Amino acid sequence: MNKNVFLIDHPLMQHKLTFLRNKQTNTKEFREIVKEVTTLMVYEIFRNIELKDIDIETPISKTVGKIMTDEVAVIPILRAGLVMEEGILELIPTAKVGHIGIYRDPETLEPVEYYSKLPKDLHDSNILIVDPMLATGGSAAKAIDLVKEGGGKNINLICLISAPPGIEKVVSKHPDVKIYTISVDPELNSHGYIVPGLGDAGDRLFGTK
Ligand code: PRP
Ligand code: URA
Repeated sequence: MNKNVFLIDHPLMQHKLTFLRNKQTNTKEFREIVKEVTTLMVYEIFRNIELKDIDIETPISKTVGKIMTDEVAVIPILRAGLVMEEGILELIPTAKVGHIGIYRDPETLEPVEYYSKLPKDLHDSNILIVDPMLATGGSAAKAIDLVKEGGGKNINLICLISAPPGIEKVVSKHPDVKIYTISVDPELNSHGYIVPGLGDAGDRLFGTK
C-alpha cells in the first residue's frame, strides 16, 4: 500500500462497517453509524497531531496545557459527506466547514461540480475532506483540486470504503494528500459501484431510493 494510505482497521470499525454493508440496515441506523464511525476515525487520525504549550491556571495553580496548533477545516463532498461532517463536529466543534457539491455522472462516471464554498484561510488549516466512498476517485480528485485552488495545503481525505482505482487516482494526482479508510474493497462493478461496498451511500443516508 502507498505510504500515504492509512487503513484504520480497528475491530470496532470492522464491526460497525459490517452494519453499514448490510442492506437490512435502515436509514436511521445507517446515518447514526456513519456519524459514529467518522468520529472514531478522526480520534485515531489525530493521535499524532501537533500540539503547542499554553499557559493556563486551574482553580488550584498555574500550569502548562497543550492545544492543537492548526485550525481544523472539515470539507464534506455533498451529499454523502454531510453526515460524516456531523460526526467530526461532535469531536471538534470549533472546526470551520466548507462544502463542495459534486455528483458523479451515471453514464460517464465523471465528476460534475455544482457548488463550492470554502473557508478563507485554508492555507493554515488541517483540512479533512470527507466522503464515505472512494470509487473511481474522480469526485475526490476534483474536490482536492478545488481545495488546493482555495489555498489548502495540509489535506487529508477520509473515506469509509475505498477501491483500488480511486486510491490510484488520488495518489497519482495528489501525492501530497493522505488517505484514511476503514476498508480497501477489491473492485468496482460495471456501473462504477464498489464491490462488495455498501451500495449508494447518498441514497442509503437520505432514504432517496
Ligand atoms: C458518490 C459518493 C462519492 C462518489 C464516489 O456520490 O458519495 O462522492 O459517488 O464515486 P467516484 O469515486 O467514482 O467519484 P454521488 O455521485 O452518488 O453523489 P450524491 O452524494 O449526491 O448522491
Ligand atoms: N458511490 C457510491 O455511493 N457507492 C459506490 O459504491 C460508488 C460510488
